[in-house]
Amino acid sequence: MLSRPEIRILNTAAELFQAAASEFATLASQAVQSNGRFTVALSGGSTPKSLYALLASGSIPNIPWEKIFFFFGDERFVPPDHPDSNYRMAREAGLFSKVPEGNVFRVHAEDKDANDAARAYDQALRKFFGLQSGEFPRFDLVLLGLGPDGHTASLFPGTAALNEQRSLVVANWVDKFQTYRLTLTLPVLNGAACVMFLVSGADKANIVREVLENENANLPSQQARPADGRLLWLLDRAAGSGLSHIGTEFTV
Ligand code: 6PG
Repeated sequence: MLSRPEIRILNTAAELFQAAASEFATLASQAVQSNGRFTVALSGGSTPKSLYALLASGSIPNIPWEKIFFFFGDERFVPPDHPDSNYRMAREAGLFSKVPEGNVFRVHAEDKDANDAARAYDQALRKFFGLQSGEFPRFDLVLLGLGPDGHTASLFPGTAALNEQRSLVVANWVDKFQTYRLTLTLPVLNGAACVMFLVSGADKANIVREVLENENANLPSQQARPADGRLLWLLDRAAGSGLSHIGTEFTV
């Protein structure tokens, strides 16, 4: 049964990132208590950098860092030191300084061939999660952002990756950028125990309304709905300002 989204609107961006960090800490403790580890697929772009920096600051108590394993929901087809690299963004935020070195699984997007890079990451996930053929990983948390066109991860409208039902990771050609993006596929996102969208800023208000209130919009981010897990949308008031019922900290 598809999960109904929980929508929480926080008054300010600072409160949004604080709420996201608290959710992260709670989910981490629960996962470590139940399974001995916490597996997270990180989102990229600019929004999550504030969350990663807050988590790395040490101001959020009781995070079991030594048992946390970081992966990426998507990565740009660039080397890890490139300004566009999601790995570089998270590393510069200090997030990886908190966990043992072997607990960060980056996408080797410096490979010459995007499809080879995708296959390699696919294999790395299968090995880590001990998957048989046809099985999908169950991340404890998949963090996602929302692009102005309704994309999430690197699942852009009208792109081939949206139809992928077997691979865990694909190299997705994105026409508008004239480049490949490496992305987890929908079966992986939707196998998660918790998918958390983190959206901030007035520039996202229209697309947030479209995604959350127009069920016929047929946008990639609307397809990220765990089959058996939590779907949580964390918005600040600016990003949620277009919604028909607006309040603070309300859950629908
Ligand atoms: C990426 C992300 C992408 C991002 C959205 C929102 O690699 O860019 O994974 O899906 O979350 O584009 O990006 P902003 O947070 O920069 O608005």
